[in-house]
Amino acid sequence: MLTGASFGIGEALARELARHRAQLALTARTAERLEALAAEFRTAATEVAVIPGDITNPEDRARILAETVRLFGGLDVLVNNAGVGASGFFQEASSERLRRIMEVNFFGPVELTRLALPHLFQGRRSMIVNIASVIGRRGVPGYSEYCASKFALCGFSESLRAELVRRGVHVLLVNPGLIETPFREHLVEDRLQSREKRRRAMSAEQCARIIVRAMQRRTNEVVITFDGKMLVWLNRLFPRLVDWLLAKYAEKYQE
Ligand SMILES: NC(=O)c1ccc[n+]([C@@H]2O[C@H](COP(=O)([O-])OP(=O)(O)OC[C@H]3O[C@@H](n4cnc5c(N)ncnc54)[C@H](OP(=O)(O)O)[C@@H]3O)[C@@H](O)[C@H]2O)c1
Repeated sequence: MLTGASFGIGEALARELARHRAQLALTARTAERLEALAAEFRTAATEVAVIPGDITNPEDRARILAETVRLFGGLDVLVNNAGVGASGFFQEASSERLRRIMEVNFFGPVELTRLALPHLFQGRRSMIVNIASVIGRRGVPGYSEYCASKFALCGFSESLRAELVRRGVHVLLVNPGLIETPFREHLVEDRLQSREKRRRAMSAEQCARIIVRAMQRRTNEVVITFDGKMLVWLNRLFPRLVDWLLAKYAEKYQE
């Protein structure tokens, strides 16, 4: 089952998984986009189900999972990809913004995982794939709620991996850097990003290929994009330098 399959990384991942002949249950809120995507690769060899729903709604989560298990007779892989962001400094933001981001990026995937676990225990080479972010490994200014939600998802994934290792369920944590998707058009609120200089981004297709390779290898964690890797490594080696660079960057937008 793949969440957030209607746009961006999820859409590209659905295509890549279909190329590998996976049976797919696609979910997101925008049913028409899911139907159009499924129609592209629904063949005798690739079974695709479209199960629209909102990841933040408990009834929707239960229905999406029950329908997937009913249609495919079980569940082997859960990909928690659906996510949203917001840009702007914390002191200017509302508590609703924080709640919304945590609901979509953390509580939604974690509660879906809770429901999925009994089925994953019965699955073949079962796996949970959590799409977090490089800024779930190093916080950056202007994205405090988003960073917090992705840090939470990273911590959850590491705990769960250790808990599930003896049950045969693997947890892959994916931390992408900047990927070319409509993510910025879907921000809950944009007080900063539209003012930021566009940086180079990797295509969603390339990102999807890297994710599928990591799934095949049952890697623990993959950091995607050169800039993303640089941020994580620089922060590991010289955290105070990164603090200083990021504070300079924040200053530019506070003048
Ligand atoms: N793009 C990047 O640079 C980047 C970098 C690092 C990490 N990521 C992460 O990668 C994941 C995919 O992001 P993307 O860049 O592909 O963004 P995107 O193009 O905006 O796609 C986000 C997906 O999440 C779904 N979604 C959002 N809210 C939802 C909800 N309440 N219920 C169900 N589905 C919901 C959207 O579908 P509907 O609107 O149809 O519901 C859409 O399919 C996210 O977790 C994001 O945080 C992205």
